Amino acid sequence: MLLTLPYLLSPQDLNAASQLLKFAAWSDGKDSAGSQARLAKNNQQLPRDSEAAQRIAAMVMGALDRSALFLTATLPKRVFPPRINRYGGSANHYGDHVDSAVRQMADRRERLRTDISCTVFLSDPEDYDGGELCIDDTFGERQVKLPAGHAVIYPGTSVHQVRPVTRGHRIACFFWVESMVRSDEQRRLLYSMDMALLRLRQLHGESAETVALTGTYHNLLRMWADT
Ligand code: NI
Repeated sequence: MLLTLPYLLSPQDLNAASQLLKFAAWSDGKDSAGSQARLAKNNQQLPRDSEAAQRIAAMVMGALDRSALFLTATLPKRVFPPRINRYGGSANHYGDHVDSAVRQMADRRERLRTDISCTVFLSDPEDYDGGELCIDDTFGERQVKLPAGHAVIYPGTSVHQVRPVTRGHRIACFFWVESMVRSDEQRRLLYSMDMALLRLRQLHGESAETVALTGTYHNLLRMWADT
């Protein structure tokens, strides 16, 4: 499932992020890529332990916690600490690749399965040319380029690329989610059922039928979730 999360970050968040990014020191993005991805990857990243990276990551994690859409669409078990990358100049693209299936968390003690990939756009589309995130999966190929503060989630299984940035810089935050529900198909069913229930309640209020269907939602989640 590919889904946009509009307005994940507030204008205040974006303002704070751009202040932090003004003085940030970037490093080569290859340090966090697997062996196939390393060949395709040509961008920059903020070092994980820099102040800007840590504060923006904390801001994004806070926004995810408050996003009902993110929670229902991903059913998160664990979220990989967000990283920040930049495309522009001679480090301006990331060719076709699939993200590593399992990632080591920074503390080296835990691993996370990358069921879902997420990109949060920190630059506005007017600030750069190119830089589309192209995602190829069962839904066909989709090109994504969103306003600053908006995010996209897509299956970790997909082949994807970031097309060359030919003007300006594209700065984004990226991370992965291990979901309580491993299967993309099951997650999609739960998501569409939850959204339909939300709409039913808005239209008709609570009823015996919405209670029963909510029960079915939770019983499916109970059957499929691994906590
Ligand atoms: Ni990737």
